[in-house]
Amino acid sequence: MRHLEDGFGRRFPYLRLSITEACNFRCTYCLPNGYRKRAPHDFLSVDEIARVVRAFRSLGVHKVRLTGGEPSVRGDLIDIIAAVADAGVEKIALTTNGWTLARRVEAWAEAGLTHLNVSIDSLDQESFTAITGHDRLAEVLDGIERAMERGLHTKFNAVLLRDTQGKCFEEFADFIRFRPVSVRFIELMRTGDNADYFQAQHVRGSTLSDWLGARGWSAVARAADAGPAIEYEHPDYLGRFGLIAPYASGFCDTCNRLRVTARGKLRLCLFGEGGVDLRDLLQEDRQATALVERISGALSGKARGHDLAKGQYGDTRQLAEVGG
Ligand code: 5AD
Ligand code: SF4
Repeated sequence: MRHLEDGFGRRFPYLRLSITEACNFRCTYCLPNGYRKRAPHDFLSVDEIARVVRAFRSLGVHKVRLTGGEPSVRGDLIDIIAAVADAGVEKIALTTNGWTLARRVEAWAEAGLTHLNVSIDSLDQESFTAITGHDRLAEVLDGIERAMERGLHTKFNAVLLRDTQGKCFEEFADFIRFRPVSVRFIELMRTGDNADYFQAQHVRGSTLSDWLGARGWSAVARAADAGPAIEYEHPDYLGRFGLIAPYASGFCDTCNRLRVTARGKLRLCLFGEGGVDLRDLLQEDRQATALVERISGALSGKARGHDLAKGQYGDTRQLAEVGG
């Protein structure tokens, strides 16, 4: 089978596919005023999704993550999961805020979902409510327990924030002591919309790695296809911490991900600009060859790394737009 490789020898077995820009949470760092519709909701249909995923599958992609916005706001999410499974993708992951997890996880798993990432920035009810704008921590946690009982590979994502650091690390450490889950902290990223917030809340990824180092956690050797997260383990804990620190040097060297937006644009880098439109080639099955060629041709345009250090964060207004 063919595979996708860029001009720097990096391979891309992993696609992040956004299926909507809409979201029902108001996370302070992303959509502090809630989601506002800017353009008609003509997001990729199930058929278009099936075509794009089949093309990436024929180029060696074996893992697809569905993102948003909040993917579960789509009424046809089950059909989408089934279409990705039908294309022969082995690992099907979903990133969700957990809003409807408790009610829906069974059906998602049945349709073929294998991996779940739940965004949960604090295990303290008050902080959770303050960050997301919704008092739903208990329901989200209930959903997570169900997902784990159902055998889904489950991880937590939390954004590293000045207000919650330290206390938040302790809460998660207690939580993962007897649970074999990993909680991944993501360094806050600058986007078009969050200048003041970033200034106030950004702390370096080393805040967490120093905290872990001082408490006996050690970094796990990474697998060849591990991607940009560094994981930490501790003999007294079943779970792991993870750190995604895009501002750390060398971060882009292990980049193994590509993104397709909910409107069908291939984005080569989260912090890049524009994208390669694929939508015109998603309309009929007979366009499959042209689609595959456009995707593989686009890879030569992938830059070695981002220019965050120079203050260039690309044209993303907030991550709900392209899928974190
Ligand atoms: N910086 C870091 N992470 C972010 N997310 C959304 N916006 C940002 C940002 N500016 C995270 C969400 C979720 C994932 C999809 O992206 O919390 O975990
Ligand atoms: Fe919604 Fe995710 Fe943005 Fe929070 S971070 S507002 S859950 S899209």
